[in-house]
Amino acid sequence: MSFWWFLALLLGSVAIYRAHECDVFTDLDLHHAIIGTSLYVKLLLYTRANLICGQELSHHNLSAQPLFNVTKPTTFVIHGYRPSGSPPNWLHDITQKLLARGDMNVLLVDWNRGAANVNYLKVVAYTRDTADNLTAFITNMQENGAFLSSIHMIGISLGAHISGFVGAKFKGKIGRITALDPAGPLFTGKPPEDRLDPTDAQFVDVVHTDIDALGFRKPLGHIDFYPNGGADQPGCPKTIFSGSGYFKCDHQRSVYLYLGSITQTCIISAFPCSSYTEFLDGHCMDCDQFKPAGCPVFGYDSIEWKDTLVPLKQTNAFFTTNKQTPFCRTNYRVDIVTWNHDTRWGYISIKLHNGSEVAEATINHKASKFEKYSETRLLAQFDKDIQKVHKISIKFSTGNALQFKHKLRVLRIRLVHLERKDRPLCRYDVILEENREVTFRPIPCEESNF
Ligand SMILES: *[C@@H]1O[C@H](CO)[C@@H](O)[C@H](O)[C@H]1NC(C)=O
Ligand SMILES: *[C@@H]1O[C@H](CO)[C@@H](O)[C@H](O)[C@H]1NC(C)=O
Ligand SMILES: *[C@@H]1O[C@H](CO)[C@@H](O)[C@H](O)[C@H]1NC(C)=O
Ligand SMILES: *[C@@H]1O[C@H](CO)[C@@H](O)[C@H](O)[C@H]1NC(C)=O
Repeated sequence: MSFWWFLALLLGSVAIYRAHECDVFTDLDLHHAIIGTSLYVKLLLYTRANLICGQELSHHNLSAQPLFNVTKPTTFVIHGYRPSGSPPNWLHDITQKLLARGDMNVLLVDWNRGAANVNYLKVVAYTRDTADNLTAFITNMQENGAFLSSIHMIGISLGAHISGFVGAKFKGKIGRITALDPAGPLFTGKPPEDRLDPTDAQFVDVVHTDIDALGFRKPLGHIDFYPNGGADQPGCPKTIFSGSGYFKCDHQRSVYLYLGSITQTCIISAFPCSSYTEFLDGHCMDCDQFKPAGCPVFGYDSIEWKDTLVPLKQTNAFFTTNKQTPFCRTNYRVDIVTWNHDTRWGYISIKLHNGSEVAEATINHKASKFEKYSETRLLAQFDKDIQKVHKISIKFSTGNALQFKHKLRVLRIRLVHLERKDRPLCRYDVILEENREVTFRPIPCEESNF
């Protein structure tokens, strides 16, 4: 191969590479965060024609980027505070998953120059500037034929309030705002114009995963989801000594839960209820007010409940999750009638077997009361969904190690899967000795009472 030919080849491939050059999210480090950076709002476009290779858009000339078709739906993804300066690790996942669900423009709003600053006060001030910048951009999109109703803004933490500020500028005409653990610090207690609120878009859905630290406790949307009660997420370090994720694990869980909902790999039903305790106590299993659609699902598809939720003004909904993906759990209503002479208090754990797999649920948020001939209704949340239950194991405990062993005399136990409408499973006349697992085959329930 001659040298000149080789050089020509090399230069040719560099030219091809340049033509396909990708624009990437601003990568900064702690050094930048300490000295502070001045705001720059970079818009990175991803479409089905450029799934992997982001293209930076001009704020002022939309036709400069032929891949940007403003008549298609547009989803903005807006990150939050980045004290480390590094790009968020979910960028790739969220763009891929959104584009797998729909033919749209995904615009990553990179305001890392601004968000990467150890001075949180300064970053909060930049949220207004970022919102003004995006407002000008969306106005430009409108002038080029875009509809506000086909805009969806997904805002993470501070990004949620940025979305709210933009939405307010358009008087709530933007189609949808999704807030993933909206930031609490410096926003809690502020009036609606200084934070996200339900009037900022036609539909505002919010998930709260860290209400006791970085997140916002009070409801901010038409529907507010509180996974695991909204404060401590399973699998996250509970103390500063037990893991490096201590500061952000709960906060970031909102993003991972939402990513799972985009792909629909496991669908999470949420239960509208007045409080998390009421939900755990099994008082909100029906979702009667949502008939015929049933309980709203968490996440991306919650928009399907828009017409029911918006007239209700505001709804809080609860669910619990596993500690890792798949996060979804399977819910059963458990009705137990006992005939002990004395009232018993205790905890129930249940296993469902199908020959190859076992699902487990423990009802231990508080002791349940079992009173002679009256029905105790419990919510059992299993870590997975078992098709065709062959066997059920049940254990009763009072949690008191010192006392002698109690028995729970069960007249009837009935399990009803809350989502699948299959026949309830029953068993009559079992005696549960304390701390001893009893396993039996379920039988169909007597028709009269379910
Ligand atoms: C938005 O920000 C970009 C980059 O920071 C800037 O080039 C553009 O002019 C801004 N838009 C407006 C309307 O100020
Ligand atoms: C916008 O970009 C297009 C394509 O690059 C170019 O032809 C046009 O002149 C630009 N318009 C303005 C106002 O700069
Ligand atoms: C833009 O998108 C619309 C709607 O999907 C489509 O009908 C139109 O052909 C697209 N325009 C271009 C230039 O691709
Ligand atoms: C048991 O349930 C699991 C999970 O639903 C399913 O994947 C598996 O095929 C089932 N096995 C049998 C033997 O039914």
